[in-house]
Amino acid sequence: MVYKIVMIRHGESSWNKENRFCGWFDADLSEKGVQEAHAAGKALKDAGYQFDAAHTSVLKRAQITLQTVLGELGQSDIPINKTWRLNERHYGGLTGLDKAETAAKHGEAQVQIWRRSFDVPPPPLEESSEFYKIIMDDPRYANGPTKEEFPMFESLKLTIERTLPYWNDVIVPQIKEGKRILIAAHGNSLRGIVKHLDNMSEDAIMGLNLPTGIPFVYELDENMKPITSMQFLGDEETVRKAMEAVANQGKAK
Ligand code: 3PG
Repeated sequence: MVYKIVMIRHGESSWNKENRFCGWFDADLSEKGVQEAHAAGKALKDAGYQFDAAHTSVLKRAQITLQTVLGELGQSDIPINKTWRLNERHYGGLTGLDKAETAAKHGEAQVQIWRRSFDVPPPPLEESSEFYKIIMDDPRYANGPTKEEFPMFESLKLTIERTLPYWNDVIVPQIKEGKRILIAAHGNSLRGIVKHLDNMSEDAIMGLNLPTGIPFVYELDENMKPITSMQFLGDEETVRKAMEAVANQGKAK
């Protein structure tokens, strides 16, 4: 039995465009991000994809990407689960900072570690941060995470630890029921799922940058082991350039 699952990082957000660490801040999609989502939906439609259920985060950049993709597919009415467990990694005290300015201040190597390492977290979000209350008091977190679980910062390791229970307990059973699943989430919550599926080393995951708005497909066997990994619905050069652009966000200007 071969199971297929499609994943997509949200289209470019307004804070991606401004090159700011975003994490749990609820940024909108940029104009380009909306266009990317429409193009992704068209590419999935042209490739003959249809879905039975979708999963996304509580953040609007992922939700609007999902709705736009499903609209292009004529599938706006399929069941959608929204969960904090698919949120972007929480960037803690880096939230809102310009990535290039942060690289100039702390060094590109330190920013690369904060962005791409497995278990080195960013500094915590302080109560004095202008983004503290808007994130902490968001009513969408009323049903989770619990007070104890609510992160002030997340490494990729911590992100994976809260994403995997959702993957294992909610998504995998639906895949095994034969449901065609679409996940619209974030660069790092998806890096966590990819690391898990491909059993990537901590070094290997350092090198993975996911482009915005380009769907990718996994074919899984009955043990949820990849038969084919991360097949993007886009030409290789476009995908490579998009990944490089994400990597370069962490360069000092
Ligand atoms: C953010 O949260 O800033 C981005 O969506 C992901 O950022 P990164 O590519 O720097 O991890």
